[in-house]
Amino acid sequence: MPVIAIIGGQWGDEGKGKIVDLVAREAKMVARFSGGNNAGHTVVNPYGEFRLHLVPSGIFNPQAACVVGNGVVIDPAVFLEEVDQLQKRGVNTDRLFISDRAHLIMPYHILLDALEEESRGGGALGTTRKGVGPAYVDKTARLGIRTGDILDSGLFRERLGFVLNYKNAILTKVYGAAPLSLEETYSQYCQYGQRLAPFIRETNTMVREALSRGDLVLLEGAQGTMLDLDFGTYPYVTSSSPIAGGVCSGLGLSPTKIEHILGVFKSYTTRVGSGPMPTELKDETGHLIRERAQEYGTTTGRARRCGWFDGVVARFSAEINGFTGIALTRLDVLDILPQLKICTGYKLDGDIIDHLPSSAAALERCQPVYQEMAGWQTPISQVRRFEDLPPEASRYVTRLQELVGCPINLISVGPSREQTIEVKPLL
Ligand code: GDP
Ligand code: IMO
Ligand code: MG
Repeated sequence: MPVIAIIGGQWGDEGKGKIVDLVAREAKMVARFSGGNNAGHTVVNPYGEFRLHLVPSGIFNPQAACVVGNGVVIDPAVFLEEVDQLQKRGVNTDRLFISDRAHLIMPYHILLDALEEESRGGGALGTTRKGVGPAYVDKTARLGIRTGDILDSGLFRERLGFVLNYKNAILTKVYGAAPLSLEETYSQYCQYGQRLAPFIRETNTMVREALSRGDLVLLEGAQGTMLDLDFGTYPYVTSSSPIAGGVCSGLGLSPTKIEHILGVFKSYTTRVGSGPMPTELKDETGHLIRERAQEYGTTTGRARRCGWFDGVVARFSAEINGFTGIALTRLDVLDILPQLKICTGYKLDGDIIDHLPSSAAALERCQPVYQEMAGWQTPISQVRRFEDLPPEASRYVTRLQELVGCPINLISVGPSREQTIEVKPLL
């Protein structure tokens, strides 16, 4: 049985949750490897509609173990609340595990995320303010606190005392904010520790055991390639590696084990937060797409910036990740548009280019070069076979496939599981 990584090809919110939930019906393990509760994955299935932030979208399959890997940063309050909500709605969480190596989001991370954003003024990144960036900073600075650490209260107190001294100095001296109390933070996280304990495991071993049994394992990406710390539109990125390369370090998995890398793309483009987005539509069409598709953030409720499909971004993303297939989502959103545009290149300082510049400033100057295609202006959310799509829709999809440079496996025509066209079987 293969290992399939499901990765966002654009700026996040491509519909990864929907695709993971769909494919997870056959899986024995579904694992998150990066990001934190900056992610918001929407799943619509027979259990109802869910917005998951930390729990893998495979949780609805009682046969699948769900793993939150070492590469994820965990806000314990968010995780426990999500578990409570799932249980209340009849979803079994007995097979949910978190890595003992995963770093915790601490209260100072959330405070610092907001204070750093405010201090950036007009240059703010537009983070989700969930403390994700500052938690990864501490991981790299070797000041992090891991889930495993809070299980030993003596050691945890010592570690927290050391780190909090340093963090309080920053909060008070750099930002003029109030310090955090060691006692309160310690007792709050000890309580979390008691509730988290049954979930904490050495999950890298679990992943390897699943592989040696030949189980189907899904690796659930969060965010998207253009938000990658190295390959995204730096500095307007997240602080982790949402690309396929992040899977290995985020779970303790050898690169040789990943057989399929499915890139999830929206049929157009959205971005939430600041930073360049060459195909952004600031006009009536952009507004129309946003309202029709309800393009508002799953985590923060912020309006998503909407624009045409960017073939340059998609090609870059396919190359960086080595996509072996595509899941194309939200094709139904385009039903109403008489004319569609696809960006096939950029005009940069008078030259036509077909590659993605590495600097955000250069990307900001890029003007999209568009190919126009006719729209289909027919509802397609009931279509289940590729050959039943209107010819304009299949031409549009085929052109996107050509630009990305790998085959389309799935086309999604609505938010729920069954609103999917299988073009080429994944398994
Ligand atoms: P994720 O972060 O990649 O999991 O994506 P989000 O859940 O943040 O955003 C995707 C949104 O699109 C959610 O509201 C989904 O319910 C919705 N969605 C997913 N696929 C489709 C589709 O094919 N058509 C429509 N209309 N909505 C979809
Ligand atoms: P899913 O998994 C869309 C964006 C934020 C901001 C930037 C940095 O649902 O696709 P951060 O809080 O990570 O430091 O913010 O990254 N961002 C996302 N945008 N979908 C996401 O996740 C995102 N996670 C982070 O809006 O621009
Ligand atoms: Mg999302």
